[in-house]
Amino acid sequence: MKLFENKIALVVGGTSGIGKATALAFAREGAKVVVAGRREAQGNAVVQEIEALGGEAIFVQTDVANDSQVNSLVGQAVSKFGKIDAVFNNAGVEGEMGKGLHESTQAGFDQIFDINVRGLVNVHRATVNAMLKTGGGAIVNTSSVGGHVGFPGAALYAASKFAVEGLTKTSALELAKSGIRVNTVAPGAIETEMIDRAFGEDLSYIQSLHPIGRVGKPEEVAEAVLFLASEKASFITGASLLIDGGMSAG
Ligand SMILES: NC(=O)c1ccc[n+]([C@@H]2O[C@H](COP(=O)([O-])OP(=O)(O)OC[C@H]3O[C@@H](n4cnc5c(N)ncnc54)[C@H](O)[C@@H]3O)[C@@H](O)[C@H]2O)c1
Repeated sequence: MKLFENKIALVVGGTSGIGKATALAFAREGAKVVVAGRREAQGNAVVQEIEALGGEAIFVQTDVANDSQVNSLVGQAVSKFGKIDAVFNNAGVEGEMGKGLHESTQAGFDQIFDINVRGLVNVHRATVNAMLKTGGGAIVNTSSVGGHVGFPGAALYAASKFAVEGLTKTSALELAKSGIRVNTVAPGAIETEMIDRAFGEDLSYIQSLHPIGRVGKPEEVAEAVLFLASEKASFITGASLLIDGGMSAG
């Protein structure tokens, strides 16, 4: 039997990168998948890839910063599939990189906190309220190695990911007896559009920060998300799993 047979997985920020790889991994493990994100063409393409694997999925266009769109997403997921068992709360932006905090802007602050923090809370609120009615489940939030250590040139991003860690630990305690586990994955640099935007084509500097000597692949994060979302992690809540090639160990 596959790990997520008869289970429903919601992947938010599932149109590219880590989210897309995780949506495909959930489908390979038997889950029916709800893919959410802003970009319709990319979202529909992920659904088609899942269908080509023999799986079932829907795409719901959603801006996580918009609470009514998030409530509508969760409503559509539950009315289509009856419940949500696993949530990958993954939407995020890197914002302005390479500037000191003293050079940051109000607009940059609003963008990062609207998506990485307000958006994550919107998804948490709506999905937990649904899961409390349908028998519990597991939430995996996307943090970052920047949610554990300082990250020069990306102070607001790091602050948003430290917030994700605090929200995760606290909500895990709040929900510990209710059958809902909450954890984070905290990736180092992973080969996605975000890294392309932040570092361009020359990855030598960012690779050198990882003791393993390379950046990670989205599929390497997806494996950890599936583990934390599965019954194999039944005694794990409030944890943060670093997937950073050893970067934070030094
Ligand atoms: N790539 C890395 O090196 C890295 C490292 C650590 C953490 N992360 C985190 O991983 C997550 C996924 O990023 P990625 O690297 O796959 O990059 P990505 O840009 O490919 O993916 C980001 C996803 O979030 C979605 N998104 C952004 N704003 C949204 C909004 N307002 N509403 C709904 N969806 C929205 C995007 O459409 C996309 O699907 C992010 O939270 C990011 O902070 C990435």
